[in-house]
Amino acid sequence: MCGIISVLSFKNKISEDLISALERLEYRGYDSAGIAYVDESSKLERIRSVGRVQNLKDIVENLNIGSNLGIGHTRWATHGKATERNAHPHICNGVAIVHNGIIENYQALKKDLLNKGDEFESETDSEAIAKLIAYNINRGNGFVEAFKESIAQLVGTFAIVAIYEKEPNVLLGAKIGSPMVVGLSSDKNSFYIASDAAALASLAEDVSYLEEGDLVAATKTDKLTYEILDSNRKKVLRNVISNATSINDVSKNGYETFMLKEIFEEAIVARRVYDNFSYNINDLKFDGVSIIACGTSYYAGLLAKYWIEEIAKIHVDVEIASEFRYRNPVLSRNLLYIFISQSGETIDTLYAMRLVKEFGSQTVALVNVEGSSLAREADFVIKTVAGTEVGVASTKAFIAQTLSLLLLFADKKNIDISQIESSINFVLNNHYKFAHEAEKIKDSKSLFYIGRGVNYPIALEGALKIKELSYTSAEGYPSGEIKHGPIAIIDENVYTVSIAPFDKNFEKTISNTQEILARNGKILLITTEKAKAYLNELLGDKNLDCLFLPDANSICQPFCIITAIHLLAYYTSKFKGHDVDKPRNLAKSVTVE
Ligand code: M6R
Repeated sequence: MCGIISVLSFKNKISEDLISALERLEYRGYDSAGIAYVDESSKLERIRSVGRVQNLKDIVENLNIGSNLGIGHTRWATHGKATERNAHPHICNGVAIVHNGIIENYQALKKDLLNKGDEFESETDSEAIAKLIAYNINRGNGFVEAFKESIAQLVGTFAIVAIYEKEPNVLLGAKIGSPMVVGLSSDKNSFYIASDAAALASLAEDVSYLEEGDLVAATKTDKLTYEILDSNRKKVLRNVISNATSINDVSKNGYETFMLKEIFEEAIVARRVYDNFSYNINDLKFDGVSIIACGTSYYAGLLAKYWIEEIAKIHVDVEIASEFRYRNPVLSRNLLYIFISQSGETIDTLYAMRLVKEFGSQTVALVNVEGSSLAREADFVIKTVAGTEVGVASTKAFIAQTLSLLLLFADKKNIDISQIESSINFVLNNHYKFAHEAEKIKDSKSLFYIGRGVNYPIALEGALKIKELSYTSAEGYPSGEIKHGPIAIIDENVYTVSIAPFDKNFEKTISNTQEILARNGKILLITTEKAKAYLNELLGDKNLDCLFLPDANSICQPFCIITAIHLLAYYTSKFKGHDVDKPRNLAKSVTVE
């Protein structure tokens, strides 16, 4: 969701750093952007714009800004519409702040500040923070003290960075609930505070993640120094680690979009996950598994359930994190709780994990972003090594999550990684065929994805991708469930993507497909080569749209089907003219409930 960057530097061209970092933060999802800086005459200036960072960049590039201190933000609207007035930074009497998260007591704070004579110009909760800091300065505090006092008055989750025009050599940050990372440039001339390490790719080679309740204060004298205070305001050191996001990860490398680049990395990612996988849970004692996640990560868990129950004969429950948290779940110390999250920051998944930890059960986090909140708080961490995923739609991370879960419970030597790799590569090499089919389904008023067994969670993933990228209503269903209601929707305007590889469920799914055909529904059949010999016999001479994938063994088969449905969703969105990397209303990292 929202993104933060800030810099205190000896160089006076910090606007370039701010803008380049905001561009790298675009992937998180946002609808407005802005910067504030203290200029060479110690005056606070602010520029904000609605829409893409490019709009802001166009303005900034014409201004020739000279400044050593600045903050920047990409805002994903929560309180108040996506307007310039609501965009960050918010300012008050020379104080400027940017904020991620939600201030739960902002109504009370606002009322109090209004009573003291303040006026508010935005509808946001964040503006109250700038007013509060300015108010506390006005009471005679220095900037640092006023910041500390203000932070203590806030209730909610937040990452906040603040600057003050009268103290242009100080940069302050604080975090509770929302991630915050700090880093020095390699020449030690610039200090950065950001919401994630991707913002700092190319700016800071080493970074430190702040812990809950931390406050960071950077000061510029004859050199740049910073100190981190923990929640008791005691000076602490946080681990310095190398920034895992390289500039290469956040460039398109010649592809038209990040999503396409990331789909084309799926075979490489599968190989990398396999080669690096050395985790084992043999020392952990449990007699069942509970998987908790959101969105695509949840579907990775559902898919793994089929494998784990079949291979390891262990009972698995899979739950949506936001539901798990609020239904008073019956927890057990005999269960292994696995939390899956690409970003490692999804607030519902994080809070669900805290609930389980508080209870005293074992927690495993399966995350793609190193240093993320879930990774830092779990008892046991499995890194999915998909590499930075920039496209809002999760693709290569899904491959990495599912394969990691498989490897965690299966014997590695029984997984034929070459078959997985080659089948994915076959799909990628035939990507134009998926583009061709996407042309046909793109104007459908609604879509169904159906599948049995492991192909059911893949159908859910296919439908989610269509929804988020094409804005078309799409539903994933178990093939056998179609006639228990959804078949009423079927007519000649509805396309169904039927996932029916030549496996033990093939005939059953084909017969469900026939039921749809009999009601004039349109079908795109995703199947495998071996099915060719049987299709005529089963479906007669019906002229079906078919995509044939390579046959693989039952464990390896799902991977190339995943790549296939990712490509299909990609091209469907592209042909509808949508922004594939930044679908409307969505955020890459969902840090509010
Ligand atoms: O970072 P996470 O894996 O926790 O994110 C969970 C979902 O928000 C995410 O998978 C979302 O559904 C994607 N946009 C799907 O492509």
